[in-house]
Amino acid sequence: MVSTKLTITDTLSLPNSTVEIPSLGFGVYESHDQQCVAAVLAALKAGYRHIDTAQYYENEKEVGEAVRQSGLKRSDVFITTKIDHSEGSVEETYQCVLNSVKVIAGEDGVVDLFLVHTADIGPADCKVVWLALEKLLEEGKTRSIGVSNYGIGHIEEMKQYAKIWPPHVNQIELHPWCQQREVAAYCQKLGIILQAYSPLARATKGNDPTLTEIAKSHEVAWSQVLIRYCLQKGWSPLPKSNTPSRIVENTNVYGFELSEEDMKLLDDLDQGPSGALFEAVSNL
Ligand SMILES: NC(=O)c1ccc[n+]([C@@H]2O[C@H](COP(=O)([O-])OP(=O)(O)OC[C@H]3O[C@@H](n4cnc5c(N)ncnc54)[C@H](OP(=O)(O)O)[C@@H]3O)[C@@H](O)[C@H]2O)c1
Repeated sequence: MVSTKLTITDTLSLPNSTVEIPSLGFGVYESHDQQCVAAVLAALKAGYRHIDTAQYYENEKEVGEAVRQSGLKRSDVFITTKIDHSEGSVEETYQCVLNSVKVIAGEDGVVDLFLVHTADIGPADCKVVWLALEKLLEEGKTRSIGVSNYGIGHIEEMKQYAKIWPPHVNQIELHPWCQQREVAAYCQKLGIILQAYSPLARATKGNDPTLTEIAKSHEVAWSQVLIRYCLQKGWSPLPKSNTPSRIVENTNVYGFELSEEDMKLLDDLDQGPSGALFEAVSNL
């Protein structure tokens, strides 16, 4: 069946914001130096318009460089980055996130989304980082702000200090074996966009019999089924690859549609928190 419903230019609307985020993103974790520049250039050529980096990945500079080299207008590419620590005070943390913006987009540049990378830094530091991100938003240096690896309790706790609430995005591990249903339902109810990290389950499930059967029935690769699954769930998947052919393959997910039965079979693969490769959030 050929789907006319989803396309590579689809976007999702962020809550309480006019900003739209391209549904299909491109991850660059563990992509370094010239390999990162080459991967992002290949991704932009293939049609991705949304790149996911982080201070922790040590490739913000390379992502910015690739976007500049691509010849695309800066406003045509959605760039996300993340901070994984507090610098002690809101002002010092603000300077740290502002520095990322400059590294990626130049002295007068902006990023599209800045995330608190993890709630593991504890409530006090989460607050400091969020207040710094709110300042970055107010100053027009980022177009949206959000969180990553946050459970329901972490997002609820933000109400005590956040001017911007709910966060625009929660980026968590999402694939059939780790569906994080409780926090996903909570975010969807509030309009918080779910970015799906490790959407290919880090290439560890390519031999799963259910997955391979579904892929065979649509004459596509298992990776394409997993990306399509995220898109049909309403999530924004961030597949990563350093391999040019796979970068293209991972965009070819718009010529088939997973049936309700396919989706149910994939849903049934959920293993709860034990299906996580990185971490399932705590919802306490
Ligand atoms: N917020 C967070 O805490 C967090 C945590 C993890 C990840 N992330 C984000 O999410 C992105 C994606 O997650 P991830 O990097 O963990 O894993 P992933 O995208 O699920 O999987 C990446 C792996 O799959 C391989 N691959 C890609 N396309 C393939 C294909 N078509 N066929 C076979 N293998 C394929 C890649 O190999 P090659 O590169 O060799 O092609 C790589 O080994 C990251 O890059 C990062 O941006 C965020």
